[in-house]
Amino acid sequence: MSLKAYKQMCRPVVGLLLVLSCVASASNTSVPEGKSRYQATSFADRIVLLPATDAASSQAVGWRSSIAQSQLQWAKAIDGPALELDAKTLDVKGTLVQTDNGPAYFYKASMAGLQSDTLYAYRVKGEGNWSEWLQFRTAKTEFEPFSLLYFGDAQNNLKAHFSRLVRSAQQQVPQAKLMLHAGDLVNSRYGILDHEWGEWFDAIGWVGAMTPQLIAAGNHEYLKSENAKGEERRELAAQFTAQFQSLNNGPTSLQDTVFYHDYQGVRFIVLNSTAAVEDENLAKVQADWLKQVLSNNPNRWTIAIYHHPMFSVSLGRDNPRLRQYWQLLFDQYKVDLVLQGHDHVYGRYQPEGKGPVYMVSVAGPKMYLVSKQARAKMAQVGEDTQLFQQLDISENQLKVKAITVTGRLYDSFTLKRQSDGSNLLQQQFKAKIAHCSAKTINDNKCWQGTEFSAAQSAPEKK
Ligand SMILES: [Fe+2]
Repeated sequence: MSLKAYKQMCRPVVGLLLVLSCVASASNTSVPEGKSRYQATSFADRIVLLPATDAASSQAVGWRSSIAQSQLQWAKAIDGPALELDAKTLDVKGTLVQTDNGPAYFYKASMAGLQSDTLYAYRVKGEGNWSEWLQFRTAKTEFEPFSLLYFGDAQNNLKAHFSRLVRSAQQQVPQAKLMLHAGDLVNSRYGILDHEWGEWFDAIGWVGAMTPQLIAAGNHEYLKSENAKGEERRELAAQFTAQFQSLNNGPTSLQDTVFYHDYQGVRFIVLNSTAAVEDENLAKVQADWLKQVLSNNPNRWTIAIYHHPMFSVSLGRDNPRLRQYWQLLFDQYKVDLVLQGHDHVYGRYQPEGKGPVYMVSVAGPKMYLVSKQARAKMAQVGEDTQLFQQLDISENQLKVKAITVTGRLYDSFTLKRQSDGSNLLQQQFKAKIAHCSAKTINDNKCWQGTEFSAAQSAPEKK
């Protein structure tokens, strides 16, 4: 939908910078229009673990409340309840953000000086009250096998549909040490739609407060708006910048969204494909930075995460600029796996049977159609299937499983490290290809993601 069309539908809600918003869009959240649900209160909420500088000795956390000052408290986890007797306390100042849910203070802070491979408990303060104690384990300093979870776009009706996927993933892979996200966490795009963010945190729940989250920005995290002169501009959603941690190790012009993080012998590189697709210079800036980060990489495995696919899977899409600026570097420096989203289908592809494996996945209810070209060339594709990925990383093998929301294995393979540093891909399993179940295809899409909202009755069965 164009900005012009959206303007006709929606009303402006914030002064200065004219940001347009459809307040609590009934079809895209479980909150009916005019109902109150996710306003900030004197109790801390939206608590989330985020990467810090060194995973073995530090841990970042983000949270939100209605008050301007907060505290973060942590202690080595013990078997009894007397955690606070030996706890460290940090005073933290909030950042005020105005949304369609009113004012809220967002916090981010880091616990530093931690011991490696050690269980810690932490909590954050509201007004005269603390959150529950939550736990996390710091990383080891050396390579050690571990598992993680990956999620493609969540984006629409998050409470109704994304929560089921997160819970299924958590039940099946409770040992996951990290959770990775492809971007388009929310639909947003034209307004500060805080109910959507409330639903994202609701869906992630306590798991997100006990497992570090590595989050790439998608195009829907960028809000389109107009300044006083009527010029269109884009900026990252306030909730994204105010709460998610920047590691400040990316290119200067993209510090909020581009970074790398090393965890137990794996380098995770988070890129901003929206910036690259929309601005050639920012594709190049990221390529220059990538070269440094890849050429100086002591880790055993390297995984890149960003939003737009290098090789599109769904109909009518292509991002040649990513191939122009990034693909050669991924080949040259032997990136093992590239995790992407945006296309709302599943697709797994290794060009010419060598080099990085490119995977596109979808976590939420918006479902598109696989293009003929992708169907012909990709090793596995899928439509109309909510998926998460389980990665099991050991010294010489990287196992990848794509699992559906019902726990059904959809695709699995292993990358086996060879003596020359290359990987041999061994296929373990491929399910029969899932096709769109909708009887009527609208606008070349299977589902728009808004048909099965918890705030309205379902469409008639087709
Ligand atoms: Fe997207």
